[in-house]
Amino acid sequence: MGQARLSEVLLRWFDDNQRDLPWRSSKEPYLIWLSEVILQQTQVSQGLPYFLKFQSKFPTVFDLALAKEHEVLKVWEGLGYYSRARNLHKTAIEVATNLKGVFPTNAQDLQKLPGIGIYTASAIASICYEEKVSVVDGNVYRVLSRYFGVDLAINETIGVKYFKALSQEILPNERIGDYNQALMEFGALMCTPKLPNCVECPVNSSCWANANKAVMDLPVKSKKVKVRNRYFNYLIFLNASLQTQIIKRSNGGIWQHLYEFPLIESEALLSIEALKEQASSQHNSQMKDNVVLINQAPIEHKLTHQHIFANFWLVKTDLLASNCVPLDEVDNYPLPQLIVRFLKNYGSQIR
Ligand code: ADE
Repeated sequence: MGQARLSEVLLRWFDDNQRDLPWRSSKEPYLIWLSEVILQQTQVSQGLPYFLKFQSKFPTVFDLALAKEHEVLKVWEGLGYYSRARNLHKTAIEVATNLKGVFPTNAQDLQKLPGIGIYTASAIASICYEEKVSVVDGNVYRVLSRYFGVDLAINETIGVKYFKALSQEILPNERIGDYNQALMEFGALMCTPKLPNCVECPVNSSCWANANKAVMDLPVKSKKVKVRNRYFNYLIFLNASLQTQIIKRSNGGIWQHLYEFPLIESEALLSIEALKEQASSQHNSQMKDNVVLINQAPIEHKLTHQHIFANFWLVKTDLLASNCVPLDEVDNYPLPQLIVRFLKNYGSQIR
Protein backbone atom coordinates (compact mmCIF):
# COMPACT_ATOMS: atom_id res chain seq x y z
CA MET A 1 0.00 0.00 0.00
CA GLY A 2 1.46 3.38 -0.97
CA GLN A 3 1.65 6.35 1.35
CA ALA A 4 -1.28 8.19 -0.16
CA ARG A 5 -3.39 5.27 0.91
CA LEU A 6 -2.45 5.51 4.58
CA SER A 7 -4.04 8.95 4.87
CA GLU A 8 -7.06 7.87 2.84
CA VAL A 9 -7.65 4.81 4.99
CA LEU A 10 -7.17 6.74 8.21
CA LEU A 11 -9.60 9.46 7.11
CA ARG A 12 -12.23 6.87 6.22
CA TRP A 13 -11.62 5.07 9.51
CA PHE A 14 -11.94 8.41 11.34
CA ASP A 15 -15.24 9.23 9.63
CA ASP A 16 -16.67 5.92 10.84
CA ASN A 17 -15.06 5.61 14.27
CA GLN A 18 -14.21 8.98 15.79
CA ARG A 19 -15.47 9.69 19.25
CA ASP A 20 -18.12 12.33 19.62
CA LEU A 21 -16.17 15.00 21.51
CA PRO A 22 -17.42 18.51 22.24
CA TRP A 23 -14.55 20.32 20.51
CA ARG A 24 -14.94 18.25 17.33
CA SER A 25 -18.06 20.18 16.35
CA SER A 26 -16.14 23.44 16.45
CA LYS A 27 -13.40 25.19 14.56
CA GLU A 28 -13.30 27.99 17.10
CA PRO A 29 -9.59 28.53 17.85
CA TYR A 30 -10.23 29.30 21.52
CA LEU A 31 -11.92 25.93 22.09
CA ILE A 32 -9.44 24.00 19.96
CA TRP A 33 -6.55 25.64 21.82
CA LEU A 34 -8.12 24.78 25.19
CA SER A 35 -8.73 21.17 24.18
CA GLU A 36 -5.24 20.67 22.77
CA VAL A 37 -3.50 22.17 25.80
CA ILE A 38 -5.51 19.85 28.04
CA LEU A 39 -4.96 16.83 25.78
CA GLN A 40 -1.23 17.41 25.85
CA GLN A 41 -1.47 16.70 29.51
CA THR A 42 -3.76 13.70 29.63
CA GLN A 43 -5.85 11.23 27.67
CA VAL A 44 -9.16 12.21 26.10
CA SER A 45 -11.26 10.37 28.70
CA GLN A 46 -9.56 12.14 31.59
CA GLY A 47 -9.25 15.48 29.79
CA LEU A 48 -12.91 15.72 28.80
CA PRO A 49 -14.29 16.83 32.20
CA TYR A 50 -11.55 19.46 32.41
CA PHE A 51 -12.44 20.79 28.97
CA LEU A 52 -16.12 21.01 29.97
CA LYS A 53 -15.24 22.81 33.19
CA PHE A 54 -13.07 25.35 31.36
CA GLN A 55 -15.68 25.85 28.66
CA SER A 56 -18.48 26.50 31.12
CA LYS A 57 -16.48 28.66 33.51
CA PHE A 58 -14.64 30.59 30.80
CA PRO A 59 -16.79 30.44 27.63
CA THR A 60 -14.61 32.93 25.73
CA VAL A 61 -10.99 34.00 25.73
CA PHE A 62 -12.11 37.25 27.40
CA ASP A 63 -13.60 35.35 30.35
CA LEU A 64 -10.37 33.43 30.79
CA ALA A 65 -8.31 36.60 30.54
CA LEU A 66 -10.41 38.26 33.24
CA ALA A 67 -10.07 35.35 35.66
CA LYS A 68 -7.64 35.42 38.56
CA GLU A 69 -4.65 33.13 38.18
CA HIS A 70 -5.65 31.09 41.22
CA GLU A 71 -9.09 30.43 39.69
CA VAL A 72 -7.45 29.08 36.54
CA LEU A 73 -5.10 26.92 38.62
CA LYS A 74 -8.08 25.62 40.60
CA VAL A 75 -9.89 24.47 37.46
CA TRP A 76 -6.63 22.92 36.21
CA GLU A 77 -6.02 21.19 39.55
CA GLY A 78 -5.15 17.53 39.12
CA LEU A 79 -3.79 17.81 35.58
CA GLY A 80 -0.27 18.51 36.80
CA TYR A 81 2.43 20.53 35.07
CA TYR A 82 0.98 23.79 36.37
CA SER A 83 3.13 26.05 34.21
CA ARG A 84 0.77 25.00 31.40
CA ALA A 85 -2.16 26.51 33.30
CA ARG A 86 -0.24 29.70 34.02
CA ASN A 87 0.68 29.96 30.34
CA LEU A 88 -2.94 29.31 29.37
CA HIS A 89 -3.89 32.35 31.41
CA LYS A 90 -1.05 34.47 30.00
CA THR A 91 -1.99 33.62 26.44
CA ALA A 92 -5.65 34.44 27.11
CA ILE A 93 -4.60 37.85 28.44
CA GLU A 94 -2.36 38.45 25.44
CA VAL A 95 -5.03 37.46 22.91
CA ALA A 96 -7.81 39.36 24.69
CA THR A 97 -5.89 42.57 25.24
CA ASN A 98 -3.37 42.86 22.39
CA LEU A 99 -5.05 40.86 19.64
CA LYS A 100 -8.68 41.93 20.21
CA GLY A 101 -9.62 38.35 21.03
CA VAL A 102 -8.48 36.94 17.69
CA PHE A 103 -5.93 34.12 17.68
CA PRO A 104 -3.17 34.20 15.02
CA THR A 105 -4.16 32.13 11.99
CA ASN A 106 -0.93 30.28 11.22
CA ALA A 107 1.36 27.94 13.14
CA GLN A 108 4.35 30.26 13.05
CA ASP A 109 2.57 33.20 14.68
CA LEU A 110 0.69 30.97 17.12
CA GLN A 111 4.05 29.81 18.48
CA LYS A 112 4.82 33.32 19.65
CA LEU A 113 2.19 32.98 22.38
CA PRO A 114 3.12 31.70 25.87
CA GLY A 115 2.98 27.93 26.17
CA ILE A 116 2.11 27.34 22.53
CA GLY A 117 4.81 25.11 21.07
CA ILE A 118 5.01 23.40 17.74
CA TYR A 119 2.48 20.73 18.73
CA THR A 120 -0.30 23.07 19.86
CA ALA A 121 0.39 25.57 17.08
CA SER A 122 0.20 22.86 14.39
CA ALA A 123 -2.97 21.41 15.89
CA ILE A 124 -4.77 24.78 15.97
CA ALA A 125 -3.53 25.87 12.53
CA SER A 126 -4.50 22.61 10.85
CA ILE A 127 -7.82 22.06 12.62
CA CYS A 128 -9.08 25.65 12.48
CA TYR A 129 -7.43 26.94 9.32
CA GLU A 130 -6.47 23.84 7.31
CA GLU A 131 -2.82 24.88 7.23
CA LYS A 132 -0.74 22.06 5.82
CA VAL A 133 1.27 21.24 8.93
CA SER A 134 1.54 17.86 10.62
CA VAL A 135 0.85 17.32 14.31
CA VAL A 136 3.10 14.94 16.21
CA ASP A 137 2.02 13.71 19.62
CA GLY A 138 2.67 10.42 21.43
CA ASN A 139 -0.05 8.69 19.40
CA VAL A 140 1.49 9.81 16.13
CA TYR A 141 4.96 8.58 17.15
CA ARG A 142 3.47 5.19 17.93
CA VAL A 143 1.45 4.80 14.72
CA LEU A 144 4.20 6.03 12.40
CA SER A 145 7.06 4.16 14.09
CA ARG A 146 5.10 0.91 13.81
CA TYR A 147 3.68 1.44 10.37
CA PHE A 148 6.97 2.51 8.78
CA GLY A 149 9.28 0.52 11.07
CA VAL A 150 11.28 3.45 12.48
CA ASP A 151 13.37 2.67 15.55
CA LEU A 152 14.85 6.13 16.22
CA ALA A 153 14.28 7.20 19.83
CA ILE A 154 11.30 9.53 20.05
CA ASN A 155 12.80 11.43 22.98
CA GLU A 156 16.02 12.32 21.17
CA THR A 157 16.48 15.19 18.74
CA ILE A 158 17.25 12.97 15.78
CA GLY A 159 14.04 11.00 16.28
CA VAL A 160 11.91 14.09 16.89
CA LYS A 161 13.19 15.66 13.66
CA TYR A 162 12.76 12.47 11.67
CA PHE A 163 9.15 11.95 12.71
CA LYS A 164 8.25 15.59 12.15
CA ALA A 165 9.65 15.38 8.60
CA LEU A 166 8.04 11.99 7.91
CA SER A 167 4.64 13.11 9.17
CA GLN A 168 4.85 16.29 7.10
CA GLU A 169 5.78 14.34 3.97
CA ILE A 170 2.81 11.97 4.15
CA LEU A 171 0.15 14.65 4.74
CA PRO A 172 -2.78 14.49 2.35
CA ASN A 173 -3.69 17.54 0.26
CA GLU A 174 -7.11 17.98 1.79
CA ARG A 175 -8.79 17.66 5.16
CA ILE A 176 -5.53 18.35 6.98
CA GLY A 177 -7.20 19.03 10.33
CA ASP A 178 -9.31 15.89 10.14
CA TYR A 179 -6.33 13.82 9.05
CA ASN A 180 -4.16 15.02 11.94
CA GLN A 181 -6.94 14.16 14.35
CA ALA A 182 -7.51 10.84 12.59
CA LEU A 183 -3.90 9.84 13.17
CA MET A 184 -4.11 10.78 16.85
CA GLU A 185 -7.50 9.13 17.28
CA PHE A 186 -6.24 5.99 15.55
CA GLY A 187 -3.31 5.86 17.96
CA ALA A 188 -5.63 6.35 20.92
CA LEU A 189 -8.23 3.75 19.92
CA MET A 190 -6.60 1.15 17.64
CA CYS A 191 -2.81 1.36 17.65
CA THR A 192 -2.66 1.56 21.44
CA PRO A 193 0.50 1.13 23.54
CA LYS A 194 -0.30 -2.14 25.28
CA LEU A 195 -3.17 -3.81 23.44
CA PRO A 196 -3.11 -2.75 19.80
CA ASN A 197 -6.02 -4.12 17.80
CA CYS A 198 -3.93 -5.42 14.89
CA VAL A 199 -6.59 -7.97 13.96
CA GLU A 200 -9.13 -5.32 13.04
CA CYS A 201 -6.61 -2.71 11.92
CA PRO A 202 -7.44 -1.38 8.45
CA VAL A 203 -3.75 -1.02 7.54
CA ASN A 204 -2.43 -4.24 9.07
CA SER A 205 -1.47 -5.68 5.67
CA SER A 206 0.95 -2.84 4.99
CA CYS A 207 2.24 -2.25 8.53
CA TRP A 208 5.97 -2.93 8.96
CA ALA A 209 5.72 -3.84 12.64
CA ASN A 210 2.82 -6.19 12.09
CA ALA A 211 4.74 -8.02 9.35
CA ASN A 212 7.88 -8.18 11.49
CA LYS A 213 6.24 -9.05 14.82
CA ALA A 214 7.68 -5.87 16.30
CA VAL A 215 4.51 -4.04 17.29
CA MET A 216 5.34 -4.14 20.99
CA ASP A 217 8.95 -3.02 20.41
CA LEU A 218 7.95 0.29 18.87
CA PRO A 219 8.22 3.19 19.37
CA VAL A 220 11.69 3.25 20.93
CA LYS A 221 12.33 5.56 23.84
CA SER A 222 15.78 5.96 25.34
CA LYS A 223 15.91 5.68 29.10
CA LYS A 224 17.96 8.48 30.46
CA VAL A 225 15.75 10.30 32.90
CA LYS A 226 17.03 9.97 36.40
CA VAL A 227 14.36 9.84 39.04
CA ARG A 228 15.18 11.69 42.24
CA ASN A 229 13.68 10.69 45.58
CA ARG A 230 12.43 13.57 47.75
CA TYR A 231 11.09 13.49 51.30
CA PHE A 232 8.42 15.99 52.31
CA ASN A 233 7.23 16.60 55.87
CA TYR A 234 4.09 18.70 55.93
CA LEU A 235 3.09 20.42 59.14
CA ILE A 236 -0.61 20.83 59.66
CA PHE A 237 -0.86 23.39 62.41
CA LEU A 238 -4.29 23.36 64.00
CA ASN A 239 -5.72 25.65 66.65
CA ALA A 240 -8.81 25.21 68.81
CA SER A 241 -11.06 26.84 66.23
CA LEU A 242 -9.81 24.40 63.55
CA GLN A 243 -7.77 26.90 61.66
CA THR A 244 -4.58 25.98 59.89
CA GLN A 245 -1.82 27.62 57.92
CA ILE A 246 -1.21 27.29 54.18
CA ILE A 247 1.48 28.90 52.09
CA LYS A 248 1.64 29.76 48.39
CA ARG A 249 4.65 28.14 46.73
CA SER A 250 6.74 30.77 45.05
CA ASN A 251 10.18 29.31 44.49
CA GLY A 252 9.78 28.12 40.92
CA GLY A 253 9.34 24.47 40.12
CA ILE A 254 6.27 22.57 39.08
CA TRP A 255 4.04 23.61 41.95
CA GLN A 256 4.71 27.32 41.68
CA HIS A 257 1.68 29.37 42.81
CA LEU A 258 -0.11 26.35 44.28
CA TYR A 259 -0.83 26.24 48.02
CA GLU A 260 0.49 23.76 50.54
CA PHE A 261 0.97 23.28 54.27
CA PRO A 262 4.28 24.48 55.77
CA LEU A 263 6.92 22.10 54.46
CA ILE A 264 10.16 20.70 55.80
CA GLU A 265 12.07 18.85 53.12
CA SER A 266 14.61 16.33 54.38
CA GLU A 267 17.27 13.99 53.00
CA ALA A 268 15.36 10.94 54.19
CA LEU A 269 12.17 10.22 56.09
CA LEU A 270 12.32 11.80 59.54
CA SER A 271 11.61 10.11 62.86
CA ILE A 272 9.19 11.97 65.09
CA GLU A 273 12.09 13.18 67.28
CA ALA A 274 14.04 14.54 64.33
CA LEU A 275 10.91 16.13 62.93
CA LYS A 276 10.15 17.87 66.24
CA GLU A 277 13.68 19.20 66.46
CA GLN A 278 13.70 20.64 62.95
CA ALA A 279 10.17 21.97 63.18
CA SER A 280 10.83 23.60 66.57
CA SER A 281 13.80 25.52 65.27
CA GLN A 282 12.24 26.50 61.94
CA HIS A 283 8.93 27.56 63.41
CA ASN A 284 10.30 28.97 66.58
CA SER A 285 7.97 27.07 68.83
CA GLN A 286 8.37 24.07 71.11
CA MET A 287 6.92 20.88 69.68
CA LYS A 288 6.39 18.13 72.21
CA ASP A 289 3.38 15.91 72.72
CA ASN A 290 1.33 18.08 70.45
CA VAL A 291 2.78 16.42 67.32
CA VAL A 292 1.39 13.25 65.73
CA LEU A 293 1.88 11.56 62.38
CA ILE A 294 -1.45 11.41 60.54
CA ASN A 295 -0.80 8.98 57.69
CA GLN A 296 0.21 5.42 58.51
CA ALA A 297 2.64 4.92 55.64
CA PRO A 298 4.37 7.67 53.66
CA ILE A 299 2.21 8.93 50.84
CA GLU A 300 3.97 8.38 47.54
CA HIS A 301 3.60 10.73 44.63
CA LYS A 302 5.32 9.96 41.36
CA LEU A 303 6.21 12.71 38.92
CA THR A 304 8.21 12.35 35.74
CA HIS A 305 11.56 13.18 37.31
CA GLN A 306 10.88 12.86 40.99
CA HIS A 307 9.38 10.44 43.39
CA ILE A 308 8.02 12.16 46.49
CA PHE A 309 7.48 10.47 49.84
CA ALA A 310 5.33 12.59 52.13
CA ASN A 311 4.43 12.50 55.79
CA PHE A 312 1.79 14.78 57.24
CA TRP A 313 2.20 15.82 60.87
CA LEU A 314 -0.62 17.28 62.92
CA VAL A 315 0.66 20.03 65.23
CA LYS A 316 -1.90 21.29 67.72
CA THR A 317 -1.08 24.83 68.73
CA ASP A 318 -2.48 28.08 70.07
CA LEU A 319 -0.04 30.15 68.09
CA LEU A 320 -0.86 30.52 64.44
CA ALA A 321 0.56 32.92 61.91
CA SER A 322 -1.81 35.61 60.72
CA ASN A 323 -2.36 34.02 57.30
CA CYS A 324 -4.40 31.13 58.62
CA VAL A 325 -7.55 29.66 57.09
CA PRO A 326 -10.23 27.28 58.33
CA LEU A 327 -9.14 23.70 57.65
CA ASP A 328 -12.45 23.10 55.85
CA GLU A 329 -11.64 25.82 53.34
CA VAL A 330 -8.19 24.59 52.34
CA ASP A 331 -9.59 22.78 49.34
CA ASN A 332 -10.92 26.02 47.88
CA TYR A 333 -7.30 26.83 47.00
CA PRO A 334 -5.36 25.35 44.08
CA LEU A 335 -3.42 22.46 45.60
CA PRO A 336 -0.88 19.90 44.40
CA GLN A 337 -2.56 16.56 43.75
CA LEU A 338 -0.51 15.05 46.57
CA ILE A 339 -2.34 17.29 49.06
CA VAL A 340 -5.74 16.75 47.41
CA ARG A 341 -5.25 13.00 47.84
CA PHE A 342 -4.12 13.40 51.42
CA LEU A 343 -7.17 15.53 52.34
CA LYS A 344 -9.50 13.06 50.65
CA ASN A 345 -8.08 10.08 52.51
CA TYR A 346 -7.20 11.59 55.87
CA GLY A 347 -9.05 14.93 56.07
CA SER A 348 -11.78 13.56 58.31
CA GLN A 349 -9.18 12.34 60.83
CA ILE A 350 -7.78 15.80 61.51
CA ARG A 351 -9.66 17.28 64.40
N1 ADE B 1 -5.02 13.92 21.29
C1 ADE B 1 -4.63 15.20 21.32
N2 ADE B 1 -5.37 15.94 20.50
C2 ADE B 1 -6.24 15.10 19.92
C3 ADE B 1 -7.25 15.27 18.99
N3 ADE B 1 -7.52 16.47 18.48
N4 ADE B 1 -7.93 14.18 18.61
C4 ADE B 1 -7.64 12.99 19.14
N5 ADE B 1 -6.71 12.76 20.05
C5 ADE B 1 -6.01 13.82 20.43
